[in-house]
Amino acid sequence: MERVKYGAAAWAHLTGRLPNSFPRTVGPRAMEYLAEIVETGLTVDMMGRFERAFAEKLGVRHCIGTPGCTPALAVLAASLGGEAGDEIIVSPVTDYGTVQGLIRENYIPVFADTAPGTMNLSAETIEPCITDRTRAILVVHKTGIVCDMDPILALGKKHGIPVFEDVCQAVFSTYKGRYAGTMGKAAGFSFDSEKTMGADVGGCVVTDDDELAERMRFIGQSRAGVQKPHFGRLHTEAGYAYRMPQCTAAICLAQLEIVDENVARRDLVARDISRRLAAIPGIVPEPIPDAQEVYSCWMLAFSLEPGAFTCTTEEFASQCAEAGIPGAGAAAYYLMPDALPFLDEWTEAGRFPYSTPPASTKRRYTGVMCPTAREYVSRVVRWSTICEKYTDEHCAIAAEIVQVVADANRSRS
Ligand SMILES: Cc1ncc(COP(=O)(O)O)c(C=O)c1O
Repeated sequence: MERVKYGAAAWAHLTGRLPNSFPRTVGPRAMEYLAEIVETGLTVDMMGRFERAFAEKLGVRHCIGTPGCTPALAVLAASLGGEAGDEIIVSPVTDYGTVQGLIRENYIPVFADTAPGTMNLSAETIEPCITDRTRAILVVHKTGIVCDMDPILALGKKHGIPVFEDVCQAVFSTYKGRYAGTMGKAAGFSFDSEKTMGADVGGCVVTDDDELAERMRFIGQSRAGVQKPHFGRLHTEAGYAYRMPQCTAAICLAQLEIVDENVARRDLVARDISRRLAAIPGIVPEPIPDAQEVYSCWMLAFSLEPGAFTCTTEEFASQCAEAGIPGAGAAAYYLMPDALPFLDEWTEAGRFPYSTPPASTKRRYTGVMCPTAREYVSRVVRWSTICEKYTDEHCAIAAEIVQVVADANRSRS
């Protein structure tokens, strides 16, 4: 099997009648910040500057820069202080980066089911998964749509369980006047090159919790090292060297300066395309909650009504791609229990911590764990090239392509 590619290399072949997010729009001051790094002989603290600017923009106390969201959430997981076999309830429809750190820290990912008709978790789908081993809830705001956070936060509070957010797909989306990523105890962000604030590999964790922030800096950026008098560096835990590179920080800083404008355009584009798609029989755009004022995304999705078309979702998506939507594809691979076969193998083999104990029970890691999510994503078509370059005409073209493909594959009944 072919190895997965990332960044511009993965997007290079995506051509069509709509823009590709590459080459990226980059904030005009990026070269100035990059030059500063070189001209000062690497002495400028660009990461610190970005961390402060991003925290201020979100209105949170702390931002901890990392080389991506995968490492950001790994640092968060390493800072939680739970025990092997403790359970983290997490969205089943997401990227591997959401769960990589949990797995490496010997937490058991418990994939709750999604709410019907969306790719997000809800308080109702999370609650049945709570056990006395649950240490945290990690929600993902998939395709820029913010989860209904108030009931989720209330549920976490009721059980004394912290709620964390994965905001990679919803950077600067808002819910009831609050930015995604500022509602839970901490949140991971990605600034990977195709994302809303794309700046090469990069990410961060944000939090208002002073103690957690200090711990994440220690574990994530200082490799859990302290200076022991008369000895030298002493590593008191298994820390990481996950600092955000200075050059990434420079580009992130420049991207932050243009993000409002870009997000405003993405919001208009996503809503315009969604409105147009809603008018096509058999096509259901991702529902935008009333509580969401800003819809910021880099990936857009719609689902096919059951029985509406004679072709498979994959065929529908590839016809959309052939007709000009760059990168249109099926979304089934986003269903983590199906996408991580090694978890089921580990469980079957009784590998630590999936052995019982420390695991509280033996789980099967397949889509049967979350049947609503599996059925739903099997009908989802998505494309990842939504960006601020889309004009109103591009929105019309996107809808026209879906209309043509839908009409060509419509069931007769
Ligand atoms: C929801 C989600 N979480 C985590 C990640 C991983 O982010 P990164 O590539 O910055 O490690 C991604 C990347 O696409 C994502 O979409």
